[in-house]
Amino acid sequence: MKKSFLKSFFADKKMVGSMTPSSKFLTQKMLKNVDFKKAKLIVELGPGTGVFTEKILENLSSDAHLMIFELNDGFFENLQKRIVDPRIIWVNDSAEKIHEYLQKNGFLFADYIISSIPLANLPKKITENILSDSYSCLKNQGKFIQFQYSLLSKKLIDNQFQTVHISFTPLNIPPAFVYTCIKEK
Ligand SMILES: C[S@@+](CC[C@H](N)C(=O)[O-])C[C@H]1O[C@@H](n2cnc3c(N)ncnc32)[C@H](O)[C@@H]1O
Repeated sequence: MKKSFLKSFFADKKMVGSMTPSSKFLTQKMLKNVDFKKAKLIVELGPGTGVFTEKILENLSSDAHLMIFELNDGFFENLQKRIVDPRIIWVNDSAEKIHEYLQKNGFLFADYIISSIPLANLPKKITENILSDSYSCLKNQGKFIQFQYSLLSKKLIDNQFQTVHISFTPLNIPPAFVYTCIKEK
């Protein structure tokens, strides 16, 4: 999918998902199954204003990396100005291209993918591309952790991952579901 084509969808606020940054409760739920001691590469999809980014960096080992995909130019530039950290690999491109950027940066697999992409608002093909690229880029037993405001994308997520756990967080605006998906080869 061409970057310019995808960007045209941002004319619609639905592509951002919510204008309210995620709460600390949702942040905790999203990151509680991340083993920061072992993680060498974490990929974050759709950081927006960076609530998850900050917590990831607080816990990330000094020799590990965080690869960030943010397609929205405004969010991307603001975040890049605000958070300066040599462990970050910045990507102002679509979350469909994880494999391409892993290769470009000399990585084979990611340990975790932390995703805020509003999957249910995107065209089905883009959602499928993001899920299949995420799956193929994770190491065996790696985790794809995604929040959503509905269960509308459950079927597409179940189609891609063998093991999917869902938990609910009422303490967020709007309340959110967290999918923790494990890659089992
Ligand atoms: C709901 S916001 C999440 C913001 C933040 N992580 C939070 O939890 O508060 C979703 C983000 O995903 C980004 N996004 C949407 N589609 C994308 C894509 N295909 N590739 C990369 N980022 C995308 C949007 O620009 C937006 O920043």
